[in-house]
Amino acid sequence: MILQIEPWIDESELEQLKKVVDSTFVTEASLTDEFESKIKELTGSKYAIAMTNGTVALFCALKSLGIGVGDEVLVPDMTFVATSNAVVLAGATPVFCDVEPETLSIDLEDAQKRITNKTKAIVPVHLYGQAVNMDDLMSFAKLHGLLVVEDAAQGVGVKFNGKHTGTFGDAGVLSFYGNKTITCGEGGVLLTSNEVVAKACYRLKNHGRDGKGTFIHEHIGFNFGFTEMQAAIGISQLGKLNQIIAKKRQIHDVYGQELSGIDNFCIAETKSYTTPVFWFTSFFTSKVEELQKFLIENGIQTRRFFYPLHLQPCYKKADYINTDYACPFSLRAYNTGISLPSAYNLTEGDQQKVIDAVKRFFL
Ligand SMILES: Cc1ncc(COP(=O)(O)O)c(C=O)c1O
Repeated sequence: MILQIEPWIDESELEQLKKVVDSTFVTEASLTDEFESKIKELTGSKYAIAMTNGTVALFCALKSLGIGVGDEVLVPDMTFVATSNAVVLAGATPVFCDVEPETLSIDLEDAQKRITNKTKAIVPVHLYGQAVNMDDLMSFAKLHGLLVVEDAAQGVGVKFNGKHTGTFGDAGVLSFYGNKTITCGEGGVLLTSNEVVAKACYRLKNHGRDGKGTFIHEHIGFNFGFTEMQAAIGISQLGKLNQIIAKKRQIHDVYGQELSGIDNFCIAETKSYTTPVFWFTSFFTSKVEELQKFLIENGIQTRRFFYPLHLQPCYKKADYINTDYACPFSLRAYNTGISLPSAYNLTEGDQQKVIDAVKRFFL
């Protein structure tokens, strides 16, 4: 089977992990500090706080900004469900907004219609390795007095006008889940330039404390700690990031050249303001179901786009969440979007097999 995605893991991760075994420090210690410093270097963020995963980092971002019960948060309808579940975890209500047809970024015209006097924040999602237009987004947020939490879970290495995603809003979040551009197995990093937010997030992840070693807790907090094993893998992966980004661009460009000009099969466009990372190379076709079935029968794994949030059974069942709004462009993206094998490990030969199979299907 040619996998749609898999991490590039080898001896270099083992080498870093050996340091953890030798040191016997397994919970957060010097490697976690080093990982956070490297993330600050990569993103230009003033603060970077490593956490268990991106979902809890989103929760901490919202919570530290004072978002909770009674508040509404605008989220794009086309995203992974963790974006809105983090809003629910914080006690607030997600409000689903349609996405722009080309970029799949939250549609600000649609979002404007969904603003009420309870709306406190907006969570733009940098989807599939493309940046949201953060100039427009930040102007919108300013105009309506909204806090901004950027979901840059898929945005490692992705820039808007030269600045790393996750560094524009009040806080931003990166994910290092196994299928992401680089991975720690699980892992998330909260980015912010605001010291108050950084301190509040640190407390939320550390049982309400500003540091370790005390059992008197001034604040209520939890345990969303990172581990030295995650940091070890993350440091090694960061060393490979440029190579991974370059290979993914090459994979994207080869698909783009070889599969251009096929009727009813168009590659996802990139805007000039975005420095993308082609985490996945995606296409649009009205024959998405048939194509996916054909490819799997030919030993090729693909991935459909995310199921629109307003159609998710879990939200349909939650009567305090409004799922009655139509989000036609999000639905269209789901009905037509497909991501082809895009892993760093994809060989030229395997990519050619994918290309040939797609051509056999369409031509
Ligand atoms: C858009 C988006 N938001 C949030 C998350 C959650 O991140 P994590 O899996 O690290 O909890 C993910 C990925 O998993 C994601 O793709």
